[in-house]
Amino acid sequence: MGLDISFKDYRKDDIHGTVLYPAMMVAPVQKLILERIFKKEKISSVFDPFHGSGTALYESYEINPDVNLFGCDINPLANLITTVKLNGIPRFFKNDMYELECKLKGSTNFECFSFHNVEKWFRSDIIENLSLLRDSISSIKHKTSRLYFWYTMCNIIRKYSNTRTSTYKLHIKETEAISKMTNNVISDFISSAKNNILKFNKSKAKYKLYKDDILKVSNTFLNDQFDITITSPPYGDNGTTVPYGQFSSLALQWIPDNDLIINDWERENYSIIDTKSLGGSRDNKNTRLSEYELDLIKEYIVNIRLDKQRKVINFFVDYFFALGQMCRYTKKKYIILTLGNRTVDGINIDLTKISSHYLEDNGFTQIALETRNIVKKRTPKLTSKVGNTSVPSMNEEFIIIHKSI
Ligand SMILES: C[S@@+](CC[C@H](N)C(=O)[O-])C[C@H]1O[C@@H](n2cnc3c(N)ncnc32)[C@H](O)[C@@H]1O
Repeated sequence: MGLDISFKDYRKDDIHGTVLYPAMMVAPVQKLILERIFKKEKISSVFDPFHGSGTALYESYEINPDVNLFGCDINPLANLITTVKLNGIPRFFKNDMYELECKLKGSTNFECFSFHNVEKWFRSDIIENLSLLRDSISSIKHKTSRLYFWYTMCNIIRKYSNTRTSTYKLHIKETEAISKMTNNVISDFISSAKNNILKFNKSKAKYKLYKDDILKVSNTFLNDQFDITITSPPYGDNGTTVPYGQFSSLALQWIPDNDLIINDWERENYSIIDTKSLGGSRDNKNTRLSEYELDLIKEYIVNIRLDKQRKVINFFVDYFFALGQMCRYTKKKYIILTLGNRTVDGINIDLTKISSHYLEDNGFTQIALETRNIVKKRTPKLTSKVGNTSVPSMNEEFIIIHKSI
């Protein structure tokens, strides 16, 4: 396509900047790609099988509010975030905001909320304020407004927790940093809820989201069901790449079950969502790569130590299954993937090349390969040192666009 996708000055002063989620796509990049396609073809449905914070789905909606959006994510927080972006804000929101503000300013009669290790992750005065927030939001009658308030509370929970902001993993701050935090929980919440609302100025999108494991749910999709599949999948084992679940776990403790799509297992421990995700430590011993799939990754894994080889193979068993399903349910038009190539045991695994090869072999011709430099702010392991000073490592992400023939 030959697009300029650097967007170096993009500062997320749009809807996507109103909430934090790991490894979010760069919205204007996705929009640019989608706009080109929407101009050329009649597109009636877009699917993101790993929708995360819903960047690509929301951008599709911005281009054409009539398009049917479908998404899947195993993480209940991703589901909540995307739901809120696609819901827009109801007419009665102002009244609900006013009601909530009154409750927050006047309420003294609430119980402190508790969960396993709450005192480890929050200071006692913060627990008290977050409990007041939780209690007050729960009492708001309209669900759409409540979900927006939980969405707003997510950033507040992270900001006032005892975990470091430099990493997506839960990693306790130093005692001094914890005691130094100024508690502005309530006022921060109110100003975010009021200021961010300006970015939710669209009416409700036409969407269906699955809070599920895509490896289980994709069998239920029809052949050729979606015109475009656009996504950024996890790209490796979750121990060394991005822990979406761990990042989400504190917020998920505070939000009540009735406003999440959640089963019993997601709160079992802080890492359970990552364990069950693609690239987690699920047991794939009985599932093997086909000869064809093994051929695609052989040049990389032969040089990796045996213990790490197993993890890479485990990842690819799931990844190829997900890709195969994409080819089946997107047969008619486009597959667009944003990918990272990670290094295991010193070997750079070219996920972009592997994916392109797979898609080509399955009837999708590559029409573009775009490269973009990214600054990874929260992956300290990748941070290099110049003298004694840490510098953020530059990394590349790749976007491949394939079209069925
Ligand atoms: C790279 S992130 C997507 C980020 C998204 N594009 C955005 O802009 O926010 C990958 C997502 O895949 C989800 N995920 C991982 N394994 C999954 C699985 N088996 N089924 C469905 N979703 C999964 C994670 O929860 C995470 O939200």
